[in-house]
Amino acid sequence: MQGDSPIKALLVSSDPEVLETMKRTLATGSFTLAGEAWPGIEAVRLASESEPDVVLLHVEEPLGPAVNTVRSIAQAAPQAGIAVLSSLGDLDTIRRVMNAGAHDFATLPLRDDEMRDAARRALDAVRRSDDEDEIVAAPTGTVLCVVGPRGGVGKTAVASNLAVALANETGTAVALVDLDLLFGSAAIALGVMPAATIQNWLQMKASGHSEPVGRYLSNHRAGLKVLAAPLEPDTELEFGPQEVADIINDLASTHEFVVIDTPPSFTEISAAAIELASATMMLTTGDIASLRAVRHVVQTLHAWGIDDERLRLVRNSPVPFRGASDDEMREAIGIDVAWSLPHDRDVFKTTDLGVSVVESNQRSPFARQVTDMAHFFGRVKKTDQPARRRVLGVF
Ligand SMILES: Nc1ncnc2c1ncn2[C@@H]1O[C@H](COP(=O)(O)OP(=O)(O)O)[C@@H](O)[C@H]1O
Ligand SMILES: [Mg+2]
Repeated sequence: MQGDSPIKALLVSSDPEVLETMKRTLATGSFTLAGEAWPGIEAVRLASESEPDVVLLHVEEPLGPAVNTVRSIAQAAPQAGIAVLSSLGDLDTIRRVMNAGAHDFATLPLRDDEMRDAARRALDAVRRSDDEDEIVAAPTGTVLCVVGPRGGVGKTAVASNLAVALANETGTAVALVDLDLLFGSAAIALGVMPAATIQNWLQMKASGHSEPVGRYLSNHRAGLKVLAAPLEPDTELEFGPQEVADIINDLASTHEFVVIDTPPSFTEISAAAIELASATMMLTTGDIASLRAVRHVVQTLHAWGIDDERLRLVRNSPVPFRGASDDEMREAIGIDVAWSLPHDRDVFKTTDLGVSVVESNQRSPFARQVTDMAHFFGRVKKTDQPARRRVLGVF
């Protein structure tokens, strides 16, 4: 336990109310503020620069990115005790955050003295432990993968619109990666004429000059970056799960969000991306053939240990035929429909023009749903989009 010197606390939450409560609570009782931030790269940077004694980290669903933030903070600030606060009190959540490097876990709601106790316990725990070296590096950005059972279900439409929506709604660094190396069209769908593509990166890598993937990104007007697929199909390229992992890990260390578009059918490329993703959007249409194929893939992913929190079922309707109801879909596939994207002629029209619907018609039904998705993953409230960083100070 500390003597008289105040305990420097870094507060991390995407919920302004929780941040206020943390601040008010720690104002009484020998704490000072090292800073406050949203979960993600910003929080990790502050943890490294402000040298806090404790980090109070508020964690809610989706758990994947939150767990990555815990892991990265544990690495960036090994001297700090990390207390995780969450309304999720189940054993699996606790196990995951503790394994990621947290020192204490407390379930919300908490009385003021309980919150202070959690912070002090975390500090005690880190001062007792001397096994800091075990922590493994992990990407910090949220990786979102879009997959489907076949071509034409709308993977590229969803991935490209989601990337634009995330850039617009969160104002953070977003990268869109097109892993459909043969017929990828994500760059075209967004009107980006790439100066370089994955092909150039792979050729450089094959010649023994491994370079950061960031050099091969192209700019989109909304501020996001695109790693484009080759402009012409090239079947000679050596591209497998290792390359997928290299690209994702590299981009997720410099981008808050990495959105991944995948090849038409379910391949080892999609599998490698899913394994690294914080969440995967499994697209399906409402026809029986799609449902059967998706059921099979979902069962395989469950067998690999990809839980439902990392797997979101998304209905899309590229044609005006809806097919199965949401209930029938749940029954056929075994998981709930997280988003239902309507048939929307604007999607079809704007894709050919190289403009996302999110840019061209924000009010269209498709754009609204995708924006909702961006809010969910971006942890931004629809009505309330606060500035991402707040001023440092003393309580
Ligand atoms: N909800 C939708 N409403 C209307 N058209 C859509 C919708 N989703 C996708 N499309 C169109 O369907 C076609 C196939 O979509 P695409 O995203 O290329 O599929 P995939 O990447 O899965 O092969 C594209 O022309 C696209 O614009
Ligand atoms: Mg596609």
